[in-house]
Amino acid sequence: MRGLAGKRVLISGGSSGIGAATARRFLEEGAHVVLGGLDQAEVDRTVGELSVLSVPSGSVSVTGLAGDVSSEGGAAALVDGAISALGGIDVLVNNAGTAWREPFLEITPAHWDRIISVNLRGMFLVAQAAARHMVERGAGGVILNMSSTNGLGGEADYAHYNASKGGVLLLTKTMAVELGRHGIRVNALCPGYIKTPLNAQISSGLADDFVSGYERDHIPLGRAGLAEEVAAGYAFLASDDASFVHGTELVIDGGQLAIM
Ligand SMILES: NC(=O)c1ccc[n+]([C@@H]2O[C@H](COP(=O)([O-])OP(=O)(O)OC[C@H]3O[C@@H](n4cnc5c(N)ncnc54)[C@H](O)[C@@H]3O)[C@@H](O)[C@H]2O)c1
Repeated sequence: MRGLAGKRVLISGGSSGIGAATARRFLEEGAHVVLGGLDQAEVDRTVGELSVLSVPSGSVSVTGLAGDVSSEGGAAALVDGAISALGGIDVLVNNAGTAWREPFLEITPAHWDRIISVNLRGMFLVAQAAARHMVERGAGGVILNMSSTNGLGGEADYAHYNASKGGVLLLTKTMAVELGRHGIRVNALCPGYIKTPLNAQISSGLADDFVSGYERDHIPLGRAGLAEEVAAGYAFLASDDASFVHGTELVIDGGQLAIM
């Protein structure tokens, strides 16, 4: 992908699943990476796994920072830590998020608040801190916010998650409108059903044939996506090949949203 070598990249939620695959992809492209995550042990494990990568540039630069992006202190520590470690941030992959199944009639205010707080407030806090740094530096940048196909349609049992991801899409468009004149490109990703630890946890109470039936009946390509296939979307949107892509979303769903 053009223009990623040497880029300084912060990936929130980079310790697992899509974020970890994205860290690997950016390192393979020759970028320098700081990855975040909620759990210190998971952050350390992922940094350890990625540190031994063999990449074309010959040197891997990856470090990790643990913290909760839903708190102002956690978001600021992540962005400030990445600026200190990398000397600046060229690309923010704003990826941290959480989800669980819960019928609308049973959602408690506390559960509502937690999902919105991690997926929408956290996204805003990290994006704003990184954008302020990019504007101050005056050299532009790229911000990629993680939404979902659940931001475009209302899947049952995910009202809080759907609302958070729909919010991310309008946050993204508004940021694009305000930050474009600073040379900061802002876009969102909308993956469909991707095999990750998060989905393994959500599906753990469901029968195997429910999951395979879901993949067969709801996804025209007949399978779940891979974290690497979403990482490729992040890499494209961050690259110079996407230099005029701004204020929109890239859907990576095996055709799921094409079904009537
Ligand atoms: N897996 C899918 O099918 C799918 C589809 C669409 C969108 N997404 C989104 O992709 C993103 C990554 O999901 P994944 O499936 O790779 O999940 P995952 O559980 O494997 O990874 C989630 C990452 O976010 C971090 N995180 C969670 N809560 C956090 C918090 N409060 N503060 C800081 N970091 C936090 C975790 O530590 C981890 O690094 C999420 O935003 C998710 O909503 C996933």
